[in-house]
Amino acid sequence: MTEPAKRLRLAMIGGATPSMIGPVHRIAAIMDGHFDVVAGVPSSDPARGLAAGLDWGLDRARIYPNVEALMAGGASTLDAVAICTPNDSHHAYVKAALDAGLHAIVDKPLCNDLAQARELAELARAKNLVLALTHAYAGYPMVRDARARVARGEIGELRMVQVEYLGAGLARKVEDQADARRRWRLDRSRSGPSLVLGDIGTHAHHLACFVAGRPIVELSAEVGTLMPGRMVHDYAQIRFRLDGDVRGAMTVCQAAAGAENDILVRVFGSLGHVEWRHSDHNHLKLGFLDGETRIYGRGQPNVTPEAARATRIARGGHPEGLHEAFANLYSDFAIAIRAIRAGKSARAAAPDLPDVMDGVAGLAFVEAALASSAARGANTAL
Ligand SMILES: NC(=O)c1ccc[n+]([C@@H]2O[C@H](COP(=O)([O-])OP(=O)(O)OC[C@H]3O[C@@H](n4cnc5c(N)ncnc54)[C@H](O)[C@@H]3O)[C@@H](O)[C@H]2O)c1
Repeated sequence: MTEPAKRLRLAMIGGATPSMIGPVHRIAAIMDGHFDVVAGVPSSDPARGLAAGLDWGLDRARIYPNVEALMAGGASTLDAVAICTPNDSHHAYVKAALDAGLHAIVDKPLCNDLAQARELAELARAKNLVLALTHAYAGYPMVRDARARVARGEIGELRMVQVEYLGAGLARKVEDQADARRRWRLDRSRSGPSLVLGDIGTHAHHLACFVAGRPIVELSAEVGTLMPGRMVHDYAQIRFRLDGDVRGAMTVCQAAAGAENDILVRVFGSLGHVEWRHSDHNHLKLGFLDGETRIYGRGQPNVTPEAARATRIARGGHPEGLHEAFANLYSDFAIAIRAIRAGKSARAAAPDLPDVMDGVAGLAFVEAALASSAARGANTAL
């Protein structure tokens, strides 16, 4: 009988209440038995961090007041860190983790600056460490199904990609009554050079490239603000080309009244198209030239192996969601770490895991979109 693989020891940075995505990380990390959360810096406020860490069941001695203390006191007893703090802290915390020899999984955007993103990529490469990025939509089984079907040629030669990400979080004038979660987002020095591009544009960029299986190489953008007087971007419309002269269009907006994280990706080929919507994330639609329409359902026997391995409840109709999608990223993170420890390629072992190079591509996309918008939509290479 083979020994079960030992659980990897994970520290969480961020996640104390109020935190939107921290609890999702914590639940996802342990869902498939790859990680134990053994330490943390749950908050920038040590008292709130201590209370949160105790609530999570951590030993008092393993709850640290800041990242310096975590690395000095705890790095040797860890395998990896998860970083789910505001964007302006990502670069320093990822760097601290890599410098301490720890694998890291960080929320998007990788950081706020392309040069710093490249520096992190080089550091991860030099140290042979996994640096994963939680582009959640790449964890959804039917998004993986779409990617696999496109890759195996089911819709023919690629022609066009359409991607949308619309939310209503900034559809009202929230500036005067901003809560903690909004305050850092409304501050450009913290959320980055473009809120809409960093917050949801990088997700849309990753989703389009993930399903199409190729990078965006050129774009023309208008990035701006729908809400009068707003100091951060809440809207962008981008025309783009992917590698191989595939055309594309993206709309991302955080001020779309009534929208509820409405995400759509469609990839059109010479024979047909795939279509995935967040509001119906357990299904993938395929439409073909001859008029045939197929709907594939998560958990059904006719999905691709890529979708099947990302599914826990292999029974049609029982829904899974964001936590399970995140857990798929954490499982792939563990698989990538174990591959590296076995002297193998992390990329080959976990080909669907968004990683530091996706983070660099995301920052290159943000930079190119801002340059294009400043030049009244001039075509700009990535
Ligand atoms: N992948 C996704 O789908 C997704 C969804 C939402 C947010 N995000 C990303 O996750 C990150 C956090 O976003 P959020 O909406 O959860 O933010 P939030 O404001 O709701 O939570 C931030 C958390 O970080 C903690 N924190 C802040 N500064 C810290 C520090 N210096 N040290 C330790 N802890 C600190 C806060 O106490 C809080 O727990 C952002 O980078 C955001 O872009 C990703």
